[in-house]
Amino acid sequence: MGHSAAVWDHRASLELTKDWNGIDQVVLRNPRGASARVSLHGAQVISWRNDRGEELLFTTSKAIFKSPKAMRGGISICFPQFGNCHSLEQHGFARNKIWTIEDDPPPLHPNDSLGKSFVDLLLKPIEEDLKFWPHSFEFRLRVSLSSDGNLILISRIRNINGKPFSFSLAYHTHFSVSDISEVRIEGLETLDYLDNLSQRERFTEQGDALTFESEIDRVYLSSPKCVAVLDHEKKRTYVIRKEGLPDMVVWNPWEKKSKAMADFGDEEYKQMLCVNAAAIEKNITLKPGEEWTGRIELAAVPSSFCCDELEPHLDYF
Ligand code: BG6
Repeated sequence: MGHSAAVWDHRASLELTKDWNGIDQVVLRNPRGASARVSLHGAQVISWRNDRGEELLFTTSKAIFKSPKAMRGGISICFPQFGNCHSLEQHGFARNKIWTIEDDPPPLHPNDSLGKSFVDLLLKPIEEDLKFWPHSFEFRLRVSLSSDGNLILISRIRNINGKPFSFSLAYHTHFSVSDISEVRIEGLETLDYLDNLSQRERFTEQGDALTFESEIDRVYLSSPKCVAVLDHEKKRTYVIRKEGLPDMVVWNPWEKKSKAMADFGDEEYKQMLCVNAAAIEKNITLKPGEEWTGRIELAAVPSSFCCDELEPHLDYF
């Protein structure tokens, strides 16, 4: 007996290409013409387009597409750490590794497959990696595009080690925006945050919706399951729904830091905002044989929508 029709369909709709370094990319498409492109380098989502062909993720025009460094933009996976607290590279090694496509991953809930175009990716440490982070794990990432064009990333991390290990994780998501001064975030007001610009000192958000007029680099703690990024000029709202990921990082380097980054245009900070669903403040610990799941679903909708209106369409959040 073969695979179900849903599984067969999703495979038939996958398109494989290679980038100029010879690294495989997978293109997902939905019947309405939305698409997503995923690189096996870092399992990074490097493009997400709506059914009008508009790019929703920011990628710097000065991107360095060269292994092993992750390209600045899209959505990269920060694992097993966010930031640079250990001896590992900044934001962990997962974004700098070549992942593989997994044909028959352990099953997910049927809702995670039905009506979706998706690809399953896998990262396992090789001998060399264990020198830097001595924990055997399997990291499975499903990237899906739903029939309404939403982008869904489901991470499953399993401890196949003899000992417990801990990690933090973030979906480092660069949203494309018209102009940062026209953008606000709803859902983080009144929350506590750690300010990376003041040695991770803890503050409480005072204002209403979050707006931007200078550099920002914060980890908002225990944020709600649904956070919205409103682009006033484009009349577009990005809705971020998350599960298993209590924190939300907000980052924009602003003018001075932009100029200091080799792979970022001087003015590009105006066209992007990073809002990263994450588990940072409290590490996740897995005992041998345990598995953790964390997921995000991103929607780009006209600004008249709000999270409550979208709730009935949700499968699992
Ligand atoms: C953000 C962090 O998410 O990523 C910042 O909060 C960091 O502190 C930024 O500078 C970019 O990191 P990187 O390693 O991709 O240059």
